[in-house]
Amino acid sequence: MRPRPLIIDCDPGVDDAIAILLALASPAEFDLLGITTVAGNVPLALTAANARRICQLAQRPDVPIYAGCPRPLLRSLTTAEDIHGATGLQGAELPEPTTPLQAQHAVAFLIEQFTTTPHPITLATLGPLTNLAVTLIQCPAIAQGIDQVVMMGGALGGGNVTPAAEFNIYVDPHAAKVVVDAGLPLTMIGLDATHQVMTTPERLTALENLGTPVGKAAAGMLRYYGQLDVERHGLAAPPLHDPCIIAYLLRPDLFSGRPMRLAIETEGSLCIGRTVANAYPTAAVPANATVIQTVDAEGIYALLTERLGKL
Ligand code: RIB
Ligand code: CA
Repeated sequence: MRPRPLIIDCDPGVDDAIAILLALASPAEFDLLGITTVAGNVPLALTAANARRICQLAQRPDVPIYAGCPRPLLRSLTTAEDIHGATGLQGAELPEPTTPLQAQHAVAFLIEQFTTTPHPITLATLGPLTNLAVTLIQCPAIAQGIDQVVMMGGALGGGNVTPAAEFNIYVDPHAAKVVVDAGLPLTMIGLDATHQVMTTPERLTALENLGTPVGKAAAGMLRYYGQLDVERHGLAAPPLHDPCIIAYLLRPDLFSGRPMRLAIETEGSLCIGRTVANAYPTAAVPANATVIQTVDAEGIYALLTERLGKL
């Protein structure tokens, strides 16, 4: 099997960092064409630097990193230093990156890649969808070069920023609407799925026991990451969000979902950023996404630990 051409759009962010490491640890499955960064968990300058720090940790300075949009389409930026720490990678002491940031804007890179690729590219979005929305607005023809978009975002149950909205969609609901309405082959992996994947003490210990710089950094970041989620939602342990997207691409058999018709609430104060799903699409109201609802958490963590052990 030829490695899948992959672009990761993200806002590192602790769980984005673990997802990038999982992708880098899977060179047989992924041809990682580049990483585009967006403002989200922390401001753009930090998400761009953190993506470079993580590639350096994985000894992959060859992966090109592109900075994208510094703020949402319309709303002012909401960040999440309370979850990820002031650096965005709380719990890991990573050196300043030596690999340069690419001069090309992330949107220009995405347009170039999707309009010239000989093989359709998979796009994993791990943050607010601002970069993809701007790319679609500027060049709708990019759809021709997209194999599928797998998005971490949304929730059919409760949100994690407000009772209604998950962070990535809440930060830029207008961008999410552009993406959901674009008719792309879209898979949504939201909180309904990721809240089933808990970073239990046993799973944390397995990462620490890798005894490598990557294992140490991953365990260090995950040790404190998401504690606020535990307190806010009364979860048994912190949920693992972004690595589920890469795990889905590696082992889709660990996930199951169904076609739905998604819409994004872009107005109001109580429900802005809500992913509203019609679970019974019809010919008149066809599905526009596959929404993942059940996951094999043990299988996901076994995959993550096994692969990170290769870095
Ligand atoms: O709601 C969780 C998502 O928002 C994750 O992608 C996390 O990194 C933040 O971007
Ligand atoms: Ca993220």
